[in-house]
Parts: sequence; C-alpha cells; structure tokens
Amino acid sequence: MPLARSLSVTSLSGLEEWDEEFELEDAVLFEIAWEVANKVGGIYTVIQTKARLTAEEWGENYFLVGPYVESNVRTQVELIEPTNPVLKRTIDKMNSSGCKVYFGRWLIEGSPYVVLIDVGFTAWSLDRWKSELWDLGAIGVPWFDREANDAVLFGFLTAWLDHGLGWPPHIVAHFHEWLAGLGLVLCRKRQLPVATIFTTHATLLGRYLCAGSVDFYNNLSKFNVDKEAGDRQIYHRYCLERAAAHCAHVFTTVSQITAIEAEHLLKRKPDIVTPNGLNVKKFSAMHEFQNLHAQSKSRIQEFVRGHFYGHLDFNLDKCLFLFIAGRYEFSNKGADIFLEALARLNYLLRVNHSDVTVITFFIMPARTNNFNVETLKGQAVRKQLWDTAHTVKERFGKKLYESLLVGQLPDVAKMLDKEDFTIMKRAIFATQRQSQPPICTHNMLDDSSDPILNSVRRIGLFNSSADRVKIIFHPEFLSSTSPLLPMDYEEFVRGCHLGVFPSYYEPWGYTPAECTVMGIPSISTNLSGFGCFMEEHIADPSAYGIYILDRRYKGVDESCNQLTSFLFQFCKQSRRQRIIQRNRTERLSDLLDWRYLGRYYIAARHMALAKAFPDTFIYEPHEPSSATGFRYPRPASVPPSPSLSRHSSPHHSEAEEDEDERYDEDLEAEKDRVNIRQVFLNNRSSARGEKQNRVLTLEN
Ligand code: UDP
Ligand code: G6P
Ligand code: GLC
Repeated sequence: MPLARSLSVTSLSGLEEWDEEFELEDAVLFEIAWEVANKVGGIYTVIQTKARLTAEEWGENYFLVGPYVESNVRTQVELIEPTNPVLKRTIDKMNSSGCKVYFGRWLIEGSPYVVLIDVGFTAWSLDRWKSELWDLGAIGVPWFDREANDAVLFGFLTAWLDHGLGWPPHIVAHFHEWLAGLGLVLCRKRQLPVATIFTTHATLLGRYLCAGSVDFYNNLSKFNVDKEAGDRQIYHRYCLERAAAHCAHVFTTVSQITAIEAEHLLKRKPDIVTPNGLNVKKFSAMHEFQNLHAQSKSRIQEFVRGHFYGHLDFNLDKCLFLFIAGRYEFSNKGADIFLEALARLNYLLRVNHSDVTVITFFIMPARTNNFNVETLKGQAVRKQLWDTAHTVKERFGKKLYESLLVGQLPDVAKMLDKEDFTIMKRAIFATQRQSQPPICTHNMLDDSSDPILNSVRRIGLFNSSADRVKIIFHPEFLSSTSPLLPMDYEEFVRGCHLGVFPSYYEPWGYTPAECTVMGIPSISTNLSGFGCFMEEHIADPSAYGIYILDRRYKGVDESCNQLTSFLFQFCKQSRRQRIIQRNRTERLSDLLDWRYLGRYYIAARHMALAKAFPDTFIYEPHEPSSATGFRYPRPASVPPSPSLSRHSSPHHSEAEEDEDERYDEDLEAEKDRVNIRQVFLNNRSSARGEKQNRVLTLEN
C-alpha cells in the first residue's frame, strides 16, 4: 500500500503560495459533464479552457466523459482506439452489451482524451433505469422531460463505465452540474471505490426563482424548497441535483455567492469554492492586443456600414460598440435593465448634443428561421458599393497610367467619363431604402412575444437617425462562417469597446472575464461570481475598466440609473483614455488564469482522495489569515479614473498620442508590477517568511 501523503494548500481568500506533496502516478481522473465537447454555455468554457492545465497534471490518466453528439464529434474530436487496456476492455464490453461508447482526442489545447456516450442508443433501457431510480430514492422522472431523461441515461451509463474499471487503485470522478449528477449518486450507492466531487455551476431552483419576480437574495433562507421546485415542475431535477450534492465526497461551486445559495437551497455548504479561470494567452509584443482591437473593430465597422446602408448619417469613427452576450435568459442576464438604461443613455446623449453614436449588440440565441432578407441585403449593397468603387478606381488608374506613359499629366476633368458616373449613380440609387435599419438580424419564430423585441418596442429605440443609441439583436451565437458577420466570438469581443453584463443571476459569468483577458472593459454586478471575485481582489476595480453594478443593495430603478451613469461616463472618454483603460484591464489577466485558479480544483481532488481513501491520503488545509488575502492595488502612476489623465497636446497626431500613451502606460504597468510583487512578498513573509522565489515565479 502506498505511504500516506500530505498536502497543504491555501484557502480561497488569497492567491499566494501553494505547497504540493501529492503524488498521483497511481490515480486516474475522470471529469464528467454534459458540456464535454458539446457547447451550451459557460460549463463548456470551464472544461475546455481548463483541459490543458489538467492534462499537464494528469497526463495519460485524464479522461473527460460527455455525450456523443455527431455534429460536434465531426468538428472537434479525433476518434481513436482506447489507449488504456482496462478502459478499452470496459468500453468494448459496454459496446457489446447494447451501448455506443466512443473514445477519442478532443482537438483543443491539451488534447485530452474523451469518452463519449451515445445516450440515445441506449434509450431502450430508460424505463428500467427510471424504475430503478424510483426504487433507489423515490425520484420519478416524467416521460415528457427530455433533458431529465437524458440525465438518467447519462447517469446510469457513466456509473456503468466507472463500475467496469477495476483499475487503478485510485479513481477520482469529478461530476459537473445536475445533468451529470446521477452517475455520482449511483457510484456512491453501489459503493464503488471512487473519490467523488460534485461541482454545481448554478442551482436549478436559484435560476428558476430569479427568472420569476422574486426578491431572491433577501429571502434565501425562507424558501420552502420542495414546494418551490414542485410549483415549477422541476422537483425530480431538483432531487437529482440535491442527491448529487449530498452524496459527493467533496461538494464545490464556482463562487462565494453561489456557495451561500447552495447552502440554503441544496442544504449543503460547499467544501471549497472553485472559481472559473481562463487560458490566458500572452502576446510577445505588449500592445498586440490593442492592434487586434483595431483590426477587429474595422471588421465590425464594415458590418455596420452594410447594416445601416442609406442611413449612415453618423461618424463611424466616433461609434462605440457595446454588447451583451450569453444564453437567452432575459432578466437573469440583465438584458431588461440594459435596455432601459440604453433608453436613458439615448436621452442623455441627445440632450447633451454628443457626437458619439452607440451601437449595441445583443448576442443571445433564440428560435429563428435564419437571417432575414433585409439584413443580408444590407451586406450585399455594401459589397456592391465596394465593387463599384473598385471598378471605377481601376478604370481611373488605367487612364492615369496611359497618360503618364506618354509623358503627360492627366486632365483631371476627363478622368471619369459618363459611364463611370452612370455606374456610380446606379450604385447610390441601390442604397435607398424606405425602412429603418433592422433591429433584428434574423426572422424570429416568436417575434411578437420575444422579450428583447418587446422592450425595444416599448422604449422606442428603432435605429432612427435622431437616436444616438442603435440596437442590433443577433439571436444566434457568432461564427466565423456566418454570411452576415463572419467573426468568431473572440474576434468580435476584441473589436468592441465595452461588454455589458448587468446580471441578476450569474453564479460566475464568463463573458466579463473573457473581456478582461482580452483587454476590453466590462460592466458586471455584485450579484455575479465574477463581479464579487474582482471586488474582493482589486482595490479599485473601475480604475481598471471593471465596472461593478450594485444590484444587491439597490432597487431596480436605482441600479438602472447607476448603469446609465456608467455608460454615459464611458461615452465621454476620449480615444486616448480608452486606450489607457484597455491597457489597465488587460493587466488583470493573471488574476483569472487557470495557472492561479486551477489550484482550487487540485485542492478539491486531494480533499476527495483523502475522504475516500483515508488510509492512503491525508489532507491538511491551511487556515486562511486575513493578512494573506491578495488585493490588486490601485494603478500606480495616475489617478483612479482615466477621465483625469493628461490631455493630448494640440500639435500631436493621434498616432503619436497613442505612442506617448503606450510609453506612459509601460511605466505605469512596471510600477504596478513592482507594487504587486511587493504585495506578494509582504503576504508571503507575513504568512511564512520563506520560499520567495516561488512567489516571484508565479507573478512573473
Ligand atoms: N459565447 C459564445 N459565443 C457567443 C456568445 C457567447 O461562445 O456568440 C460563450 C462565451 O464565450 C461564454 C459563454 O458563452 O464562455 C457564456 O458563459 P457564461 O458563464 O457567461 O454564462 P452561461 O451561459 O453559462 O450562464
Ligand atoms: C488601438 C490601436 C490604435 C487605435 C485604437 C482605437 O489602441 O492600437 O491605433 O487608435 O485602438 O481605439 P478606440 O477605443 O477608438 O477603438
Ligand atoms: C453556469 C452559470 C454561469 C457560469 C457557468 C460556468 O452556466 O450560469 O454564471 O459562468 O455556469 O461556471
């Protein structure tokens, strides 16, 4: 039997040191989630971005388990023979017993192995398994709940997979979210020798309650959970979720705010919070991300030229691009108060005669019948204008060339002939349109009851000339193969100026985190895991372009006013100030890197091993000390708000100003780094007074 090993980690309150004495050669990690190689929302991002770090730690002993979805597999997975003989035997056995289980490499960073289960293929077992579930815990899953039926199939099949593995001595199985939770419950019920972890990325009841008109956070302790779940017809799902949370050796969630929610609604306090990280890409040139912003912005501008054809009566160079994106949960994601704040912003910009135009994108998938003709036509008209300009330019160039060949300067009056003018006039005529530029890019199936469209109708923001705030609703996730806006989500975010995520219910919220690592400022709230995390770790978040809206202690109208004020202040910034702000935002990336945040996952696994195999593993958590809580200091060299920073001197060109700004910013960034290093060193010496090199390594 292997010797007992010890592990010490710091608690969530600090990002400082990390001692690690676990050896894992004889252990295997399975991570099980419905969003493995299957994008639905943020859970996919957790698993996909974390894969590289986890694969580095576990190597050949790391397997992700998810559902088999043919369209995903075709584009993301290379199917291969199982590499491990025990796993191969188990998969072969399952396949010869009426299952369809695939093995492959997921083609993402880290190239982890994936085991993909075709749940539909085993639907013949559904009734039997449902009655087993009834006998097990009196949980009755209704026939019409397709998602819950999938959860039953997926649960029994993943437990079957775990059961087949008699090897090696130590298996850790990490299950994400209620859809995968039943597998965990069955592992425990069948007393399999597996260390189990359950991570919830939201509670079902929390999401449902918030979507209604409930004062959620002031009543957390008062809800009659069974009744509330029953009233919403999710009692069976709720039971699966609660059972998984209670059966797990270790229960985790993604933020402190969801930990409190889980304690009240699932009746178990998480053992550890595992915040979500990202795979932060560092560019060799410090300002590369600024160039990427400029490149992507010009592609968005191109789209806007087409969308607003015939109504391009605003200065594109003075346009600000704002966006909100995510699953379409109208009020949970704060689209409701965002629209209201946009109406107020429109009023403020108009009465202040601002020359800024705000173009706001709503990227939230809804049921559609493809792109609408008017939007596609916009891009076609733009293309035609471009082609016309190109044709005339060619003809002009040819005449110019011929004139120079015979040693004459051209007669400018004759350079364009009648035909050129005819082509150009025809192209201009094509840009006439009777209607306003469309709000929505697609044909909506539920147009008359769609909450975004209905709000737009109510506030009357119809993209008219007088409006300083324009709205474009793109009810589909972005894709680089789209005929309309051919950009992937990352490129799009880089090209925007501000991400706005005023969520009411948001256990973490990847969208503002992704903005941060790309150097794009964002608005989040003190009800989102991300917002609270940033508030905890940064002394003055807004100085870094992280605006945190108060939705906790303020009423809706007050929050809406605060949001309007954030937006209006943002619109008042000069280009120079926006560049400074983006530099500062980007400097926070390290805070969100899995290289830091992955440690909480490691701690959770070690905790689970120690609980499941107490004779072999010991887990020794460190007590948090208030002195060790890491806080990112204020920017070093300039006042907290970019609006107070130095103004450009009149003789400077904009490019020169950008250069100056970079120089100032480089100095500021360097001072910040020194400060932060100091904070790390202070934290460390107050905590332990040793191993300073390690901390510096992390920081650098
Ligand atoms: N997203 C995307 N394409 C889009 C819009 C959003 O892939 O066009 C992704 C985004 O990158 C983010 C996820 O959707 O990782 C949303 O996650 P979040 O945690 O913000 O919210 P959730 O939908 O999980 O509640
Ligand atoms: C980046 C580019 C600059 C450009 C600026 C535009 O910083 O490097 O060359 O001027 O973006 O910023 P804006 O906020 O106006 O899109
Ligand atoms: C859930 C939450 C979201 C979180 C994501 C990943 O979908 O709604 O806030 O970021 O999971 O943990």
